[in-house]
Amino acid sequence: MKILVFTEKPFAPAAVKAIENTVNASGNELEVVEGGTREDFVAAIKDAEGLIVRSDKVDAALMDAAPKLKVIVRAGAGYDNIDLQAATDHKICVMNTPGQNSNAVAELVFGMMVMMCRNQYNGKSGSELKGKSLGIYAFGQVGRNVARIAKGFNMNIEALDLFVPDAVMEAEGVKPVHDVNDLFANNDFVSLHIPATKETKGSIGYDLVMKMPKNGVLVNTARKEVIDEAGLIKALEERPDLRYVSDIKPDTAEEFEQKFASRVFFTPKKMGAQTAEANFNAGVAAAEQVIAYLKDGWNKYQVNK
Ligand code: 3PG
Repeated sequence: MKILVFTEKPFAPAAVKAIENTVNASGNELEVVEGGTREDFVAAIKDAEGLIVRSDKVDAALMDAAPKLKVIVRAGAGYDNIDLQAATDHKICVMNTPGQNSNAVAELVFGMMVMMCRNQYNGKSGSELKGKSLGIYAFGQVGRNVARIAKGFNMNIEALDLFVPDAVMEAEGVKPVHDVNDLFANNDFVSLHIPATKETKGSIGYDLVMKMPKNGVLVNTARKEVIDEAGLIKALEERPDLRYVSDIKPDTAEEFEQKFASRVFFTPKKMGAQTAEANFNAGVAAAEQVIAYLKDGWNKYQVNK
């Protein structure tokens, strides 16, 4: 059976090798297309039974072009790039690989926070993370790794996640909060780890950001879609002390950069999970999950019904 890896953002070479070994050992056949066009995707998916992607968009038209496709695994956490309803209609199982790249994303949060505190390394006097407060918005795999690392920096940590019992956070030395307004009002740094859903899209804007204490920093390694960009711009205009750092450019990046210069920073491409280790973990997990599904319907991490 053919398993296709299609990704715009390449995996580390060692991860591709490991995926290859895993697929070969299972007796399946692997095709890897990195940086291909939509036409390349349509051509390659035609005879594939399994598909591994990252943030690459998988829509109904692609599924129409893939009559043999049975399973899609998103090598990573967020699956907002996959049309789940279309997959269900096409009787395709969709899974993600929870936790496999979460340390990489969490480490980038700290890279970004230090960079903003040190004025993007411009030589001027900055500030430290020690003793500051951090609000973690969503206490999933990434949020928990962020909390673990924050303890090493001696930060005071709060988190909001209505799906996680208080006791779970408390056991990690994290103070639970139950109102997003409090999370923003209480913390010098707020780190976003919410998925992009119809409830969360555009949900972080003017009102919340204006609640942040003096010199607040909003850190977004989640999805650009959760930000109300116009609202955030208005808040940054009214509050020259606030800063925004995001792992991926907002749609209105130019306006942010023109207006706020060194108070904002954006990666050109999503970099959170772009490490050799995360590529290896998520890539091999994805390959194993595709193989297990094709072999005997293993679907532990299925995200569509
Ligand atoms: C994820 O949802 O797993 C992360 O955002 C990483 O996405 P990527 O695989 O496109 O880098």
